[in-house]
Amino acid sequence: YGTSKINNKGHLEIGGVDTTSLSEKYGTPLFVYDVKDICNRAQEFKMAFDKQQMKYQVAYASKAFSCIAMIQLVEELGLSLDVVSGGELYTALQAGFPVERIHFHGNNKSPEEIEMAVREGIGCIVVDNFTELTWLMGITQSLGKQMKVLIRITPGVEAHTHEYISTGQEDSKFGFDIQSGQAGKAIETIEAHEFLILEGVHSHIGSQIFETNGFTSAIEEIYKVLVVWKKTLNYDLKVLNLGGGFGIRYTKEDTPLPLEKYVESMVEAVKEKSLEAGMELPEIWIEPGRALVGEAGTTLYTIGSRKDIPGVRSYVSVDGGMTDNIRPALYQAKYEASIANKMNDKLEETVSIAGKCCESGDMLIWDLEVPNVDIGDVLAVSSTGAYGYSMANNYNRILRPAVVFVEDGKDQCVIERETFEDLVRHERNYQSNKTQGR
Ligand code: LLP
Repeated sequence: YGTSKINNKGHLEIGGVDTTSLSEKYGTPLFVYDVKDICNRAQEFKMAFDKQQMKYQVAYASKAFSCIAMIQLVEELGLSLDVVSGGELYTALQAGFPVERIHFHGNNKSPEEIEMAVREGIGCIVVDNFTELTWLMGITQSLGKQMKVLIRITPGVEAHTHEYISTGQEDSKFGFDIQSGQAGKAIETIEAHEFLILEGVHSHIGSQIFETNGFTSAIEEIYKVLVVWKKTLNYDLKVLNLGGGFGIRYTKEDTPLPLEKYVESMVEAVKEKSLEAGMELPEIWIEPGRALVGEAGTTLYTIGSRKDIPGVRSYVSVDGGMTDNIRPALYQAKYEASIANKMNDKLEETVSIAGKCCESGDMLIWDLEVPNVDIGDVLAVSSTGAYGYSMANNYNRILRPAVVFVEDGKDQCVIERETFEDLVRHERNYQSNKTQGR
């Protein structure tokens, strides 16, 4: 999908731009996004649905990477948008994203966030629990504004992925569970409410999934209960949102399916189950985050200090780490990297890449084969486009990096690097009580 290659200087080039010149121009750490890569992936999702002649929406899960420019790109690509907080919604509004294509998720939306969504008239709210439902009923009623909703259910399917990012099992903080009848009760409540319009059902089983059978099992479970709801509640499904979670390649051990395979298998299963149940075909919505932006992002770092422990290991440190990519520390996530200014050089040594935080767990990559590394070399870590910048933090008062988009030989800065002033912007001086005799 992407456009990276090695140029005639032996440097890593992305979107027709030499990454070493990007590191000089913007400094490091730097997130570089290959815009074409994102476009190609969006296109593949859309074409897969078009081929099946389905009604669909592909909503970009903006938690993977949200900023005004990204959301404007999503709009240009004709996708919808999934937001999970007032902040993500605000960003989407600032980007001028069409409100009717915004879907609002989350297991603890506050009354203020719900009100913001209702006032703005966004596309739908994915209702997660009874507390939220009660608030939503009150807010729509008092504003006299209708809201379309999906209900999120946990289909009781376990995706084979890291437990922190697995969400489809019954014992989960997300959604209404089907077994105990809560989901059915939520449907009744919504259908009876004057200002709520029930659009459909949502299920998200987890992330970084490489097989289609998690999705098809979820579809089976959902249809089992849909058949019951049709009988008992006279409920007809209009929209089935199957969430995101399509796996990507971080290292060569990852073998993601072509994106269209996920779509094909979902559509086939839904067609088959609808036919069996004598139901009309619903619209299918999906919410890819990582699959749209993960592989499009590369982080550039500058190599700094080095520590060789003879016979044990060489630690090579970079100017970022868990502050711009917390995934290795949080999920033991693995990454691949290369030296952007030495792409054609022979691999000569094995080093471990350390971040700059005061924390032993701040290791980006263990045992990476590289050419002989020198101070000042540029390390390019690939597949950092999802949950990198979006989970970035200021631990150790390290600045969040800049983000650039590259395409057709041009680069544009879409998020500027933070400054030291940014770090203290919201802070106030201490008012001492000492002179009062403390
Ligand atoms: N839809 C829902 C309801 C979700 O909860 C998520 C992710 C997505 C869509 C998008 O999933 P994706 O296609 O990006 O896998 N921070 C973790 C991932 C947490 C995902 C949370 N929900 C990571 O870095 O792997």
